[in-house]
Amino acid sequence: MIKLYASGGGSMLKMSDILDEKEKILREKSVDVKFPISNERKKLVHDMIEFLTDSQIDELALKYDLRPGMGLAAIQLGIKERFFVVVHEVDEGKFDNYVIFNPKLISNSEEMIYVGEGEGCLSVNREVCGIVPRYARITVEGYDEDGNKIRIRAREELAIAFQHELDHLDGILFVDKIDPKNPFKNKDLYREI
Ligand code: NI
Repeated sequence: MIKLYASGGGSMLKMSDILDEKEKILREKSVDVKFPISNERKKLVHDMIEFLTDSQIDELALKYDLRPGMGLAAIQLGIKERFFVVVHEVDEGKFDNYVIFNPKLISNSEEMIYVGEGEGCLSVNREVCGIVPRYARITVEGYDEDGNKIRIRAREELAIAFQHELDHLDGILFVDKIDPKNPFKNKDLYREI
């Protein structure tokens, strides 16, 4: 067995590896990933998980100078491939990791929600207020890194994270979904979380 991953030393990724919204590539549509994926990609996925996990642990975020983030799409690292990583803190210091290649939204609730304090994105380095309506519950299908088909149901915060990352794969940023003239438009139609 080749040991691909080091641990405990912080992620190989740095904040400066993440493209800012000014970069045009973030507006491009990513393309499907072909299997088998390379060890280099698997290593990158691991680094993305480690980066996002560290960023959500205060002392590590401070140590490595990371802005907290829950998700990262490959395009944010300049890689135009359809996959993303989400690291979800389910309990204090306990994280679930999701890695989905070629993800597709296959069903959604009618109910829509939004993050009351506003969404954030590691590529958007400014405060943006406003409502981004998202489905409260979704089912996503895709593939794991070994090419096995996976299906994940997500709700609430996790569902929002998935939808945010799915948008990245189509070149859409959350800020695109906020009307700057009326950022809280139709607020009452959606449930705040
Ligand atoms: Ni983002």
